[in-house]
Amino acid sequence: MAMTPTAACLLPAEADDFAVPDPDLLFGRSVAMQRVRVTLEHLGAAPIPVLITGESGTGKELVARLLHRQSRVAAGPFVKLNCPAIPATLLESELFGHEKGAFTGAHAGKPGRVEQATGGTLFLDEIGELELGLQGKLLQLLQDGCFMRLGGREELRADTRMLFATNRNLEAEMAAGRLRQDLYYRINVVGVELPPLRQRREDIPRLARYFVSLHGRRYGRAVAPLPAEFVSALQRYPWPGNVRELENMMKRYVVLGGAAELLPLLMARSEQELEPDGEGSVSLKALTRHAVQELERGIILQALAAHRWHRKRAAKALHISYRALLYKLKQNGLQSAPGAHAPAAPAPGARAAATAEEKEVTQ
Ligand SMILES: Nc1ncnc2c1ncn2[C@@H]1O[C@H](COP(=O)(O)OP(=O)(O)O)[C@@H](O)[C@H]1O
Ligand SMILES: [Mg+2]
Repeated sequence: MAMTPTAACLLPAEADDFAVPDPDLLFGRSVAMQRVRVTLEHLGAAPIPVLITGESGTGKELVARLLHRQSRVAAGPFVKLNCPAIPATLLESELFGHEKGAFTGAHAGKPGRVEQATGGTLFLDEIGELELGLQGKLLQLLQDGCFMRLGGREELRADTRMLFATNRNLEAEMAAGRLRQDLYYRINVVGVELPPLRQRREDIPRLARYFVSLHGRRYGRAVAPLPAEFVSALQRYPWPGNVRELENMMKRYVVLGGAAELLPLLMARSEQELEPDGEGSVSLKALTRHAVQELERGIILQALAAHRWHRKRAAKALHISYRALLYKLKQNGLQSAPGAHAPAAPAPGARAAATAEEKEVTQ
């Protein structure tokens, strides 16, 4: 299935789901985002590789599209490859293409994403998931611009601007021997770090209004202005799925025609108790509980990411029972991979893993 070039990977930069918003809205007012804005301005149209880091849903792809738009190759294609979405065995051919007869079923030659992105930008998403063998080939591409199709004899030259994104800590990956050091320095020429939404709460009201008006237009719905109580609940919620989760919440607001059903969801995980009241008092107990929970959540997410959301394997790695992990996932609102588009549905990778896992459990 992954062998056929999908139309989705060749969407124009202005594809419907990825309207690049006005820069004032995109960057907002937080110091961290202002720093990102300045870096992007300095970069200008320079065709330098950029590594965009940040949790899932913080806008890494959006920034990649913005970089493409401000580059000299803006008129060319923006081609994206989401590394973990493609089985490791198919990734090389997907990236570099293959010649006829390269493997069983390769009835014709096919260009890979590198070639498809000629004269444009290639965006490699979740680069931390690339296995070591392919890392070497990618390094060669970055060093001298050369690559070979799978089963090919001829060296081809790429004419593509490369951008990378990851939600992993690549330095930790390097220390663990899962990422080549030389590759890391090649892709991290310029780094852009996107903050989680909970660290830029001041931008939430404006983003929320933007999404309501965007999706109101898309769904042809006239929507009531956001009630003040709802906006304040939005600002207190921790947003584990970041801007993507906020956008999904606003789509639901548009579709449901109001906040009545959404408010209780937000309140259930509100961080109100963590904020000092008028007299500057804050509950130490609540703070500690929150800190432990956040730490635990981070560790669980790391284990899940390392095992591609295969919950049984993640539980094993964490030395807890499968049942205990399921409980913790529920407790942390993590029944689906953060970043999954529909709030209740697991991400595609998670669904595949869950299916494999269910089989494993029943066998
Ligand atoms: N700063 C932002 N301003 C407006 N929309 C944003 C912003 N960051 C993210 N989004 C929107 O949130 C969704 C997720 O962003 P995306 O770039 O896919 O995140 P990531 O690649 O980090 O997972 C997209 O629909 C994107 O347009
Ligand atoms: Mg992404």
